[in-house]
Amino acid sequence: MLIEKLKSKSATIGIIGLGYVGIPLLLRYSEVGYKLLGFDIDKEKINKLKAGKSYIDHIPSHKIQEAIDMGAEVTDDFSRASDADALIICVPTPLNKYREPDLSYINQTVDSIVPFLRKGQVISLESTTYPGTTEEEVLPKIASAGFEVGTEIFLVYSPEREDPGNPEFTTKSIPKVCGGYTEKCKQVGIALYENVVNQVVPVSSLRAAELTKLLENIHRAVNIGLVNEMKILADRMDIDIHEVIRAAATKPFGFVPYYPGPGLGGHCIPIDPFYLTWKAREYGLHTRFIELAGEINSLMPDFVVSKIVSGLNRNAKPVLGSNILILGVSYKKNIGDMRESPSVVIIERLLDMGAIVEYSDSHVPFLPAMRNQQLNHQSIALDEAALSSFDCVLIATDHDDFDYQMISDHAQLIVDTRGRFLDPSHNVIKS
Ligand SMILES: NC(=O)c1ccc[n+]([C@@H]2O[C@H](COP(=O)([O-])OP(=O)(O)OC[C@H]3O[C@@H](n4cnc5c(N)ncnc54)[C@H](O)[C@@H]3O)[C@@H](O)[C@H]2O)c1
Repeated sequence: MLIEKLKSKSATIGIIGLGYVGIPLLLRYSEVGYKLLGFDIDKEKINKLKAGKSYIDHIPSHKIQEAIDMGAEVTDDFSRASDADALIICVPTPLNKYREPDLSYINQTVDSIVPFLRKGQVISLESTTYPGTTEEEVLPKIASAGFEVGTEIFLVYSPEREDPGNPEFTTKSIPKVCGGYTEKCKQVGIALYENVVNQVVPVSSLRAAELTKLLENIHRAVNIGLVNEMKILADRMDIDIHEVIRAAATKPFGFVPYYPGPGLGGHCIPIDPFYLTWKAREYGLHTRFIELAGEINSLMPDFVVSKIVSGLNRNAKPVLGSNILILGVSYKKNIGDMRESPSVVIIERLLDMGAIVEYSDSHVPFLPAMRNQQLNHQSIALDEAALSSFDCVLIATDHDDFDYQMISDHAQLIVDTRGRFLDPSHNVIKS
């Protein structure tokens, strides 16, 4: 019955957590014709979405309005969970202050829907997490409400593979891995996703699906760590790592290019690998590659600061009192996501050293409050006069809308963390 409802698109899909992952998913289900119910605890977000407004830089408001016009509802009333045939959970999975998994968002979500569950629903967890979470944390809560999982309620884990701001891949075109608690759960999971993505990739268990997502992100974190280490070495050897990567990438097999930068950012790559590190200890194992990559990647903001210091020094200037302009404060180009952004760490270090810091980023008009600094900064407009007034310009995130020729022509000193300036120039320091 549930499978038929999902296949025929007569099912109501509930999306819990309307953020970077939940909203694109809601839009995609709406686009293919499902009835949608979006849940979030953040009233401000709910009100914006109800008014047809996006609060995420790269998701246009008209898409939200289209979904609302198609009948999608958004609410903070979790009793409406009983109206949905499927409940897809996309809430945050951060680390706590001891850098251990913080499952409180998942647990709160499950606690808030359990009183409203009914037979014939499927629950899919999409939040990134360690193998065992769905079975050890979510399943017991459902079972303790008296439901038999696998016959009355179906439980799946299907990790999200969103690449925010990348127009080449959409929710539809990215294959979706899906594991179920039982074979029947898996079949329900396939029916849940097969109408909205081009390819569902079934795996044998919840834990295999959970580990698949972590492997993907750990693969990135480790390779970025490797290339960041190579960058430091190449720098000492006076070789441009970006030139080397571009040359190596012409090899048609066996080499995948990864690019160094000012450090890891976003809600995924700096965080997710440590979910596995934590779980591995239960099995008496230490995930040394993950730890090592984390160590190297977290050194990168300091490496960048050391390059700014030596660049200013070359111009006979101390950091104290120097005017420094940060170009790009989001963690990734062409989007406005500030989470875990290395630019923030660099700004904090420079402020601690007495620099006067401004920034420019059309994707982030206002800088949110930071750890120690009560900054109330606003992005400045870039023009020739502004550029030439700074002692140093740091290219932290290489958004496409920066005018790199103007930057190159007018900045006194450029510290380039993204390899935008390949040709040697008197005013460019590679970092
Ligand atoms: N952002 C990405 O590119 C990306 C990619 C793949 C996977 N993921 C994973 O997806 C999950 C969600 O990430 P995100 O980037 O969408 O986070 P987000 O912070 O953008 O969105 C999460 C939403 O959940 C809401 N929320 C928090 N607690 C809630 C609760 N108890 N009930 C209902 N809503 C609640 C928040 O208000 C927020 O709107 C994380 O596990 C993340 O690791 C993210």
